[in-house]
Amino acid sequence: MVKQIAFPDKFWWGAASSGPQSEGDFNKAHQNVMDYWYQESPTEFFNQVGPKLASDFFEKYRDDLRLMKQIGFNSFRTSIQWSRLIKDLETGEPDLNAIDYYNGLIDAAKKNGIELVLNLHHFDLPVELLQKYGGWESKKVVELFVKYAQTALELFGDKVNYWTTFNEPMVIPEAGYLYGFHYPKYVGKGKEAMQVIYNINLASARVIQLYKQMKLKGQIGIILNLTPAYPRSNSLEDLAASEIVDALFNRSFLDPAVKGSFPKNLVELLEKDGVLWQGTKEELAIIQANTVDFLGVNYYHPKRVKAPGKEAKYSAWMPDKYFEEWQMPNCRMNVYRGWEIYPKAVYDIAMNVKKNYGNIPWFISENGMGVEGEERFIDEDGRIQDDYRINFYKEHLAWLAKAIDEGSNCFGYHTWTAFDCWSWNNAYKNRYGLIAVDLENQKRTIKKSGYWYKKVSDHNGFTYDLDYEIK
Ligand code: GAL
Repeated sequence: MVKQIAFPDKFWWGAASSGPQSEGDFNKAHQNVMDYWYQESPTEFFNQVGPKLASDFFEKYRDDLRLMKQIGFNSFRTSIQWSRLIKDLETGEPDLNAIDYYNGLIDAAKKNGIELVLNLHHFDLPVELLQKYGGWESKKVVELFVKYAQTALELFGDKVNYWTTFNEPMVIPEAGYLYGFHYPKYVGKGKEAMQVIYNINLASARVIQLYKQMKLKGQIGIILNLTPAYPRSNSLEDLAASEIVDALFNRSFLDPAVKGSFPKNLVELLEKDGVLWQGTKEELAIIQANTVDFLGVNYYHPKRVKAPGKEAKYSAWMPDKYFEEWQMPNCRMNVYRGWEIYPKAVYDIAMNVKKNYGNIPWFISENGMGVEGEERFIDEDGRIQDDYRINFYKEHLAWLAKAIDEGSNCFGYHTWTAFDCWSWNNAYKNRYGLIAVDLENQKRTIKKSGYWYKKVSDHNGFTYDLDYEIK
């Protein structure tokens, strides 16, 4: 199938990264939970590589932004680190060194004509706030987050047009409280996870409220990982399971962010089970009144869901009593990451946002493919021939273009990621970049996909020439 795939004018082409995954921990005022986790248990990280140096973006951001421009970026997201910007976590007083760094970064983006999106939280809570107050389980931490955000917005709010409150907030309760794959690595703390969901929604709404009160001229949104929940079959049991998964893993943030309220079926279920979060009428009114201007959607893989088996896996309350995930036989997999590849979900997400969320302006804020051992694909000129990545992007973009043709209000596409960076405990196992980073010497080399991306950005589209059908 050969077809021209075209995107609207002013479409965003770029990528996302985050402070903790790219900068290295130079000059940081505090440790975040990831820095601390590595310090305590380095063996839990792939090849024992931690966040100390990461991709040295702290030193190299000027060159890196130039490279991003060279591969066609007109926009780029990264995050401010709470643990870097704030010297005094109780008062929100900033660290002077950090102010210089962020001002330098903002200027460098401007110089290269790159629209910067600044995110305020990318899984990187200062660890002291976990130890002292219990982290996101605590409303005190919500207060302190608002202070941090106020400092950030007072310093940089008029220089940056696009802000986001959180990246993938659902990962914080999911990975930290339900299944234990991120620090604090609790497993089976279902009730606490529900409080974390509520508190982060409140924190996000409070920062949106602040942004509006400050009358800043830009826009503020949130970045959500949406994982469409597809039922195994049309049986009532499987359908019920997929609805609960959707309510918990997608709508628990999507609904408050866009509509100002929590999904009714989720609230009822949690109430019935005696695990509903503690909240007040005043807080709910803040959530109701302060919704996002735009939405960022990270999409990597769908969730395949079926009715739960009979056996209870956990002693305390867990949402898993209502569902089980399963792997479809013969589905396409990214074997390095263990994630299903299902490009059509991009279209399904777009149509869901159009139909059920007022067609709010949104963009794909992360999409990408991590591959292990990419040195295998280096050619005689030293360039990684990552055709698999190009094909992955083509398929996802083709579904996105179809959704836009059908009226979806999508304004951009960001890959994960610009240059190879650190991925939590997977460290540098899988590489995602359009630009390779050699960990021996931090040398950057544009991959084949980077050159391809430049052409896509220049033409605002590409020729679709794969067998994979977009129907
Ligand atoms: C996302 C996350 C990123 C990055 C990516 C690839 O879920 O937002 O920070 O780690 O996964 O692993």
